Amino acid sequence: MSTTRTHKITLIPGDGIGPEVTAAMVQVVEAAGQQTGCGFDWHSFECGADAYAKNGEILPKAALDSIEQNRVAIKGPTATPIGGGFSSMNVALRKKFDLFANFRPVKSLPGIKTNYPGIDLIIFRENTEDLYAGLEVMINPDIAQSMKIITRKGSTRIAKSAFEYAKKHGRKKVHSIHKANIMKLSDGLFIKCTKEVSEGYPEVAYAEHIVDNACMQLVMNPYQYDVILTENLYGDILSDLCSGLVGGLGLVPGANIGAECAIFEAVHGSAPDIAGQDKANPTALIQSAVLMLDHLDEGETAKKLQAAIEKVYADGKTLTRDVGGAAGTKAFGDAVIAAL
Ligand code: NAI
Repeated sequence: MSTTRTHKITLIPGDGIGPEVTAAMVQVVEAAGQQTGCGFDWHSFECGADAYAKNGEILPKAALDSIEQNRVAIKGPTATPIGGGFSSMNVALRKKFDLFANFRPVKSLPGIKTNYPGIDLIIFRENTEDLYAGLEVMINPDIAQSMKIITRKGSTRIAKSAFEYAKKHGRKKVHSIHKANIMKLSDGLFIKCTKEVSEGYPEVAYAEHIVDNACMQLVMNPYQYDVILTENLYGDILSDLCSGLVGGLGLVPGANIGAECAIFEAVHGSAPDIAGQDKANPTALIQSAVLMLDHLDEGETAKKLQAAIEKVYADGKTLTRDVGGAAGTKAFGDAVIAAL
């Protein structure tokens, strides 16, 4: 089909496995768009640790300007040094564009054997505040302090996002996850706000779980969760835990949404242990692209692409190593294109 509309998208391949999974994602999105008459104009920028080593800049101004103009970006993972070095580029992007809602659907794919078949839950993680914002000082050489900031505004708007989503998509229950028994003020404010918001949505049930209990409950009986609403750091940790329920980090997509723009990315990191070996599973980023297509009002293209991914999994012949197959990153992408 000839192209009738073109979307400008900022593309950040990122570090480690980022360039490999991004290349596969671009190919399959192009192929899906060709079937529905939608085209893509990719504006690609080198950002992250590799870009820093090469050009002395983690996040060049040109990339920021491009995101500001296009209002939609998709990125591969970017590495952040541990215990020193530069601050996280992801945290910087989320703050700069006020991408307050981190949306992560965790859904089982057909054909993958896990201990938990039929998982279908959504994580709404507050994305700009909390200990995760990286506000730290050394009080003296022996005392380090991290600041946990929780605001009424931040907690209320993420709660509204979660409840609006639940209402729109017929989700039955929102669990607010916290540690307000210990952090009585900060997490106390968070659950106060989430409870207040819940009162405006009588059709959606509301419950609160303490985060340590939630970890145990997720492993014992994840089916009790429908929508998980939580703070930044707990959301980060619970996302990886939930990825494990459906087959691992190679599968779970994500979206960082603000009022002005949205940046789509997988839950996983740069996976340096398998980088450059054609071993990475691009499913998580491809499913992030499905979320992006929905965001762009390209619902038909999104549906076709998701159906093709699920067909490849149901066939089970061209899966990557992390989910028990032997195929490479590129071969998986080719299989999705063939399934389209
Ligand atoms: P990681 O997610 O990169 O890797 C954890 C494990 O999962 C590794 O064994 C890896 O091989 C595997 N894995 C991850 N993605 C995979 C995929 N698509 N296919 C197959 N296997 C996959 O987490 P790690 O090692 O803790 O972090 C590495 C780097 O990534 C760090 O510098 C961290 O800061 C960064 N990171 C970046 C994120 C982002 O840009 N959004 C998110 C998380 C971590």
